[in-house]
Amino acid sequence: MITIALSKGRLAEQAIDLLEKAGYDVNAAREKSRKLILEDPKSGLRFILAKPADVPTYVEYGAADIGVVGKDTLLEEGRQLYEVIDLGFGRCRMCVAGPKELEGKLDMIPNKRVGTKYPNITRAYFEGVKNESVEIIKLNGSVELAPLIGLSEVIVDIVESGRTLYENGLEVLETVADISARVVVNRVSMRMKSDEIKPMIDRLREQVAIMNAEGREDK
Ligand code: PRP
Repeated sequence: MITIALSKGRLAEQAIDLLEKAGYDVNAAREKSRKLILEDPKSGLRFILAKPADVPTYVEYGAADIGVVGKDTLLEEGRQLYEVIDLGFGRCRMCVAGPKELEGKLDMIPNKRVGTKYPNITRAYFEGVKNESVEIIKLNGSVELAPLIGLSEVIVDIVESGRTLYENGLEVLETVADISARVVVNRVSMRMKSDEIKPMIDRLREQVAIMNAEGREDK
């Protein structure tokens, strides 16, 4: 039995579709209910539906063998895992954003306050990459509010379509990282359940390669 931790929401649905295309029986995972563990003894798969930020935790501790989770969450949580596949969906960017007036002037503001749901990514970027000390203000959502209301000069947040920034008069000032959904594997499971996990990784990789090729043809 392989236990797969899925990030509740859109990523979970896309991950289930992908497993199905790769030839796995995902009927259990498609069950419309509020159950958090969906198991199909016949197919040998058990799905757990977790909050995205908790998926790396379940996988690191071995409560799940495999997880599907955004790179943003992996960077923020910094867990000990094997990251084995870039699934190519759930694409977005982690960005520094702020008012238009700050375009090209970000480095001139000393001791900036940065509002974010991602304090670890923000610290690694400003202190590690830019060698700059900032005050990080942890928020839990609607982060775009912070510069509008004077809580912080800038934010570090996910930008997908750019619509939230645009409608709030904000702009991308710098890109921190490209984000997409990843498959992660528990380090012990990779060895102890390699008979089941390695073929699954191969089948998923094949399927992702097909999808990427189709995507290129569409362009
Ligand atoms: C995310 C992110 C941005 C928005 C970006 O928010 O934090 O606010 O989506 O998407 P866009 O570029 O397509 O507009 P989410 O919906 O997760 O809500 P929250 O941050 O308020 O929790």
